[in-house]
Amino acid sequence: MVVLLATTALVTPLSCKLEPRVPELVYSPNSAEIEKNDDLAQDEAAQAQLEGLLQFLFGTPQAPSYLSLQGWGDDEFYPDDWGYDFVATDDDWWDRLVDSNRRAYARQIEAIKEGDFDAVTESYEAPGVWDAWLDALANKPDDPDAEFDEGGSWRDYAVSIFENYYPTLRDSAELYRTQCFHCHGAEGGGNGSTAEFLNPRPRDYRHGTFKWTALRDKSRPRHEDLFRILAEGIRTTAMPNFRRLTDAQIHGLVDYVRFLAVRGETERLLISDFNEDERLSTQMVEENYQLVIDRWHKAADLVITYDGEVPRATPERIEHGRYLFTTPGEEGGANCVACHGTTGLGDGPSVNDPDNSVDDWGNPIKPRNLQSGTFRFGRRPIDLFRRIYVGINGTPMPEHIGQQITDSDGTVRPLNEEDVWDMAFFVRSLSTEPMESAGTSGPDREHSDH
Ligand code: HEC
Ligand code: HEC
Repeated sequence: MVVLLATTALVTPLSCKLEPRVPELVYSPNSAEIEKNDDLAQDEAAQAQLEGLLQFLFGTPQAPSYLSLQGWGDDEFYPDDWGYDFVATDDDWWDRLVDSNRRAYARQIEAIKEGDFDAVTESYEAPGVWDAWLDALANKPDDPDAEFDEGGSWRDYAVSIFENYYPTLRDSAELYRTQCFHCHGAEGGGNGSTAEFLNPRPRDYRHGTFKWTALRDKSRPRHEDLFRILAEGIRTTAMPNFRRLTDAQIHGLVDYVRFLAVRGETERLLISDFNEDERLSTQMVEENYQLVIDRWHKAADLVITYDGEVPRATPERIEHGRYLFTTPGEEGGANCVACHGTTGLGDGPSVNDPDNSVDDWGNPIKPRNLQSGTFRFGRRPIDLFRRIYVGINGTPMPEHIGQQITDSDGTVRPLNEEDVWDMAFFVRSLSTEPMESAGTSGPDREHSDH
C-alpha cells in the first residue's frame, strides 16, 4: 500500500500540463460524526483502528475498491463491477455508450484503422483507456490484421479498447478529483473548498440520502437517477451539468458517487454503533457494510410509475388542486399551504418552525417559491406528480400519497393519484411561464419510464 501511494503521488510532466492544479486526495475521518460519540472521541486507538478498517474495506482514493464479503460471489454480486446493468431498466444504455465513445475517440479510432499509430494521442480524461492502448501497442504483432484473440485481429482489438471503454473506480476517482472534489470533498462529505459559499450546499453523500429521485420509501437512488443528475445538472443550484463528458465517464462517476456513499454511510454507522464494550467487532463491521449495500440494491423495485395516459389539466382539476393545496391539514386539506403559503410564495406559517427550517444535513432550508416556475427535478407534469407524491428526501417536504384528507362533502379518505395530478396542475398554474411553452423553455428531465 505504501509503495502504491508513493508511486501515484509522482505527477508526470504530461498530466501536470493537462490537469487543473488539484492536490492528490486522501480520505479523512468523519470527525464531525466522531465528536458525537464520546466513547470514540476519547479513544484515539479505536479511531486509528476505524481508519484502518475503512481502508481495508474501501482502499484509498488512488486505489478505491470494495472488499467482497463471503457469499457475494455466489449471488453473482461483484461490487467492483457494480455498474449500470445491476439496476438498469433501460436496455439501450450500452449502445448509447458505444456511440458516445465512438464520437469521443473518433480521431484515435480513425488513426488505428489507417495504421497511423503515432497519431493515437490522448484527448479525454480517461486514464484507463490510455493505459490499455499503450499496453496493446506494446504487444502489437508485426501484422496488425493477423488473428490476435478470440478470432479477432489486433486492429479490431485496438479499436474495441476505445469503443467499449467503461471506467474503473480508479479512473472515475481521478475524474472526480478534477471535476467534483472542490464542491463535494474527497470523501463526498459535501465539504469541498467552495462548499461554504454555496446555497444549497453540495450534497454530502455519506447519509445515503439523495433528493432528486422518483422512488418510494426514501430509497437510495437508482443508477439512472444519478446519471440524469450528472447529465442535466440541477437547475437554480451550483450543481452543473456534465454533458461535455462521455456517457462512459458519467456512468463511471455514478459508480464512484455510489462508492463514496456506501463508504461514508458504513463509516457513519460504525461510528454511531461504537461503544466501550463492543468496540469494532468483525461482526459489527460486516453487518453494517451489508446493510448499506442492501439499501442500494432495493432501489430498482421502488420507482413510482403511473399506469395510464398522463391526464390533461382542466379548470376543474386545477380548482380541486387549489382546494387541496390551500386547505390546512386540520381542515382536511393536503396542507401545502403550511409551508408554501396561499399563493405558493414559500411564506407559509411553518417557515418559522425550527423542525421545518433545516434539512437532514443540518443546513437551513426554505420551502420553494412555486411562482418562480423553476423546478429542480423538472417541470413536466410527470415530474411534479412524482415530486408531490413522494416529497423530497432529506428535506421537510413530506410524502403525500395516502395522507388522510376530507372532501368538500365531508368524506374522509386517503389522498390518491388523481389528487396528486390535480395539485401538480395547480402548482404549474402558479408560475408565470405558460404551460404550453414548458417543453421548450428549459432542460426538462427526460424520464423514459412513466
Ligand atoms: C460548483 C459546485 C459543484 C460541482 C463542481 C459539482 N456539484 Fe454536485 N452538487 C452541487 C450542489 C450545490 C448540489 C445540491 C443541489 C440541491 O440540493 O438540489 C449538488 C448535488 C449533487 C448530487 C445529489 C443529487 C440528489 O439527487 O440529491 C450528486 C449525486 C452530485 N451533486 C454529484 C456530483 C458529481 C459526480 C460531480 C462531478 C462530476 C459534481 N456533483 C460536481 C454542487 C456541485
Ligand atoms: C413541511 C414543509 C413542506 C410542505 C408541507 C410541502 N412542501 Fe413543498 N417544498 C418544501 C421545501 C423545503 C422545498 C424545497 C426543497 C429543496 O429545494 O431542496 C419544497 C419544494 C417543493 C417543490 C419544488 C420541487 C422541485 O422540483 O424543485 C414543489 C413542486 C413543491 N414543494 C410542492 C408541494 C406541494 C404540492 C405540497 C403539498 C401537497 C408541498 N410541497 C408541501 C417544503 C414543504
